[in-house]
Amino acid sequence: MSGLRGRDFLTVNDFTPHELEEILHFAGELKKAHREGKDHRLLKGKTLGMIFQKSSTRTRVSFEVGMYQLGGNALFLSASDLQMGRGEPVKDTARVLSRYLDGIMIRTFDHGEVEELAAYATIPVINGLTDLLHPCQAMADMMTVLEKKGTLRGLKLAYVGDGNNMAHSLLLACSLLGMHVAVACPPGYEPRPEIVSAAGMNAREYNYNTEVLITADPRAAAENADVLYTDVWTSMGQEAEQETRRQVFSSYRLDRQLLSLAAEDALVMHCLPAHRGEEITEDLIEGPQSVIFDQAENRLHVQKAIMAKIMS
Ligand code: CP
Ligand code: NVA
Repeated sequence: MSGLRGRDFLTVNDFTPHELEEILHFAGELKKAHREGKDHRLLKGKTLGMIFQKSSTRTRVSFEVGMYQLGGNALFLSASDLQMGRGEPVKDTARVLSRYLDGIMIRTFDHGEVEELAAYATIPVINGLTDLLHPCQAMADMMTVLEKKGTLRGLKLAYVGDGNNMAHSLLLACSLLGMHVAVACPPGYEPRPEIVSAAGMNAREYNYNTEVLITADPRAAAENADVLYTDVWTSMGQEAEQETRRQVFSSYRLDRQLLSLAAEDALVMHCLPAHRGEEITEDLIEGPQSVIFDQAENRLHVQKAIMAKIMS
């Protein structure tokens, strides 16, 4: 039996490289089964509750459709409609929902809230994005690179932009799976030091010679990169800082010039939603090296693999 059953999926760092590879491999199998119309209803009769404190297109639809394809059901629970939105403690919500559901996906601000939910829930909890981490997106991204390049080991991913939840989860995922990772951010917007140090520890523990680089220079990060990745300058919840951020990040953009420094066959990636002309130019999003919509599709397949492994 897989050691993944019953586990939470709050951060990729709770898993070994081998376990993450098991999920990625299974996601590939599920994608194939789905394309071939083969029955893969592994979660018949099970229900996932999806708590949203923030907006979503991809996460909501891919989890809901994913549960449906696995033979189960998904319930959309807007946090403002739950009693939680009126102050019912997270620990009570966790215990009550555990009596009805088989899994909970939550998207919220404070990562600590997700940890508290998971601590009190008796069913698996999946992190659908917090201010700190976005692990399901990072898994879909790893799956996409693996599909396009055939391997992850020894490749270099360059992330240019805000040292946010996406940068954090990519730092952890790359360092666990054997990719060099370079993050270029403006001073003051670097990833959190504890995440950078956890990534460094992963690289040392699991992968000889993989590098973790934090720099202020997008060109240094992009040099010979196999993947160029960016995310929005202003994340959900930071709207009041939007004008300042537009100025601070103006030279942290994926454009043709930066792409010319990367490997010739570099992939262009973005978790979406994108702001054309801010963190990425239109020609890169729409260009031949973009795999942005494959990433979005792979959210579905990798999350199905995660749910089937931990909720069955
Ligand atoms: N990438 C991502 O998580 O998209 P949504 O915010 O639309 O869910
Ligand atoms: N960093 C972005 C990711 C959106 C999927 C945000 O948190 O808004």
